Amino acid sequence: MNTQTTTLTPPAVEISGISKSFGEHLAVHPLNLEIGENEFFSILGPSGCGKTTLMRMITGFETPSSGRVHLGGVDVTNVSTRHRDLNMLFQSYALFPHLSVFENVAFELRVRKVPKAEASQRAQEALELVKLSHLGDRKPDQLSGGQRQRVALARAVVSGPKVVLLDEPLGALDQQLRKEMQYELKRMQREVGITFIYVTHDQEEALTMSDRIAVMSDGVVQQVASPEDIYNQPETRFVAGFIGSCNLIDVTVPAGESGQQVTVNAEDIGALVGVLAEGVSHEQRGTLLLRPERIDVSRTGDGLRGTVETLTFLGEEWHVHLRVGSEIIKISLSSLVRERDLPGLVEGEELVLSWRPQDARIVIR
Ligand SMILES: Nc1ncnc2c1ncn2[C@@H]1O[C@H](COP(=O)(O)OP(=O)(O)OP(=O)(O)O)[C@@H](O)[C@H]1O
Ligand SMILES: [Mg+2]
Repeated sequence: MNTQTTTLTPPAVEISGISKSFGEHLAVHPLNLEIGENEFFSILGPSGCGKTTLMRMITGFETPSSGRVHLGGVDVTNVSTRHRDLNMLFQSYALFPHLSVFENVAFELRVRKVPKAEASQRAQEALELVKLSHLGDRKPDQLSGGQRQRVALARAVVSGPKVVLLDEPLGALDQQLRKEMQYELKRMQREVGITFIYVTHDQEEALTMSDRIAVMSDGVVQQVASPEDIYNQPETRFVAGFIGSCNLIDVTVPAGESGQQVTVNAEDIGALVGVLAEGVSHEQRGTLLLRPERIDVSRTGDGLRGTVETLTFLGEEWHVHLRVGSEIIKISLSSLVRERDLPGLVEGEELVLSWRPQDARIVIR
């Protein structure tokens, strides 16, 4: 997995001190980012957080208010989009309705004056990549939504750019097709070896496809890390709450070094064990982060006690809402654990909770 950029070759994309204001509104706060060659890099965040604006600054469609953009080690800040070695696939991509699938894909090569025979061969290869070579003669309106999406993808990669930026490319597809296309896209990216910068507000999509993810909120990049680290080691309350389900418990940060095991007293719950994440300081308002699937429950033993308020069956797992003091703690139990260790569990029952200290991180609120 390409979770780190190498220092030998320059990064495919390097952003330093990039920011964007629209009048008074700072849409993207000054930010540094390095994206490696052949990396599948996702920008994840809620609507309006600045994802598209950041993409548009990389492509050159938007002029940054500050900072520089380098592509492959070359400063392109003042270079027009046309002369940057990249392609962008917009959410509302448009195919030419009067051209065949094949012609749609070959179009850019024609514009670039690639010799006809070579253009045909490359367009054919791009169609093979997206598994549509048998439909080259069709018109776009004779294709399904997913097939049209594939044509747009073939068109984005056919000229062999170093970087392809994709802004919510699967947004218009239904859930089933979206899942299929996620795997397709990832396979394709590996095959062509192009750097993909992928914008989405779907956390599952980002987790399954990316080498690394940048999580954004309100124009600020909160964390850049591998999917696993984003999920297991969130650095902020926002990241933990945005990605997956998480119990977010208000605490006052106790004294200690980062990484140290501590016990905190949470109002209305009681004493909780956890570890201090980096960047928190004593007495600050903090959040204890605890994933529902990291909590063990049993019928006996010592520890924090709670009462089962709701018990919901979801097939492979059960969701339990446990009332502890005046708070609700979310727990997920695999169906196996539920049947094996807690047979006959009913709402209203009292359970004992426990977790490994390292699974409860204390971050800034
Ligand atoms: N041309 C513009 N003029 C003024 N404000 C703008 C302009 N473009 C974007 N904004 C504002 O900047 C912020 C970031 O917008 P942006 O389009 O980057 O968000 P986004 O993360 O892509 O959202 P979405 O997920 O909805 O596409 C928003 O508050 C938006 O209203
Ligand atoms: Mg957008």
